[in-house]
Amino acid sequence: MVHPIIETLLWRHATKKYDASKKIPQEDLDVLFEAMRLSASSINSQPWRFVVIESAEAKERMSKTFAQKHQYNQPHVFDSSQIILFAHNPCYTRDDFAKVVDKGIEDKRTKPEDRERAFGVFMFAELNTDETGNTSGWTKAQTYIALGNTLHTLARLKIDSTPMEGIDTDLVNEAFKKELDGYQCDVALAIGYHHPQEDYNSKLPKSRHRLDDILVRI
Ligand SMILES: Cc1cc2nc3c(=O)[nH]c(=O)nc-3n(C[C@H](O)[C@H](O)[C@H](O)COP(=O)(O)O)c2cc1C
Repeated sequence: MVHPIIETLLWRHATKKYDASKKIPQEDLDVLFEAMRLSASSINSQPWRFVVIESAEAKERMSKTFAQKHQYNQPHVFDSSQIILFAHNPCYTRDDFAKVVDKGIEDKRTKPEDRERAFGVFMFAELNTDETGNTSGWTKAQTYIALGNTLHTLARLKIDSTPMEGIDTDLVNEAFKKELDGYQCDVALAIGYHHPQEDYNSKLPKSRHRLDDILVRI
């Protein structure tokens, strides 16, 4: 018998064509968004912002960003249920981390008298900040953890998805400048339900490296 976790991971695939007639129910979106919020990150930095594109106006705006490249992903804009922009903070500062510390106090994880001590771990951010204040390498890595968590959660909900680095990042960041509010989007995620006939990837066998080529037990 295949373990249910493996079954789920074999079920999920990068959808190549969506069924435009199917949209995700609100109760599943609620679970999904909460799972995204609960994603892990280094020092609990949570240096991300998720922009959910679902209105006709926002989808129109997203569609226009495919004017110059990556047109193969463009049909997902209207056929999928939502597109989520995964964006990272390119300049994560002590003020950003202060919000994490203060939320920790509000959530009763950190005692108010330990507030100053809680900033000790901020050295992880400092170690990943260059001389210009850029933290992108580190904050983008954290945002991809949220992306991975989202992919697994979607599979458990039996919702299809397509991670997309195939986006015109210049045009996307310009078109959604207001909503991104200084965060940088380098990857988006289409979510919805695959087309029963036209999604060729749903019928292909999974292909991955052999375990003994990638895993070393010592
Ligand atoms: C970060 C990331 C970016 C990706 N970008 C695209 C993309 O732009 N378009 C696309 O069709 N698939 C994209 N994919 C899908 C991968 O090609 C796919 O996950 C991989 O080939 C494994 O296949 P599977 O997901 O169907 O198991 C991306 C996947 C990841 C994780």
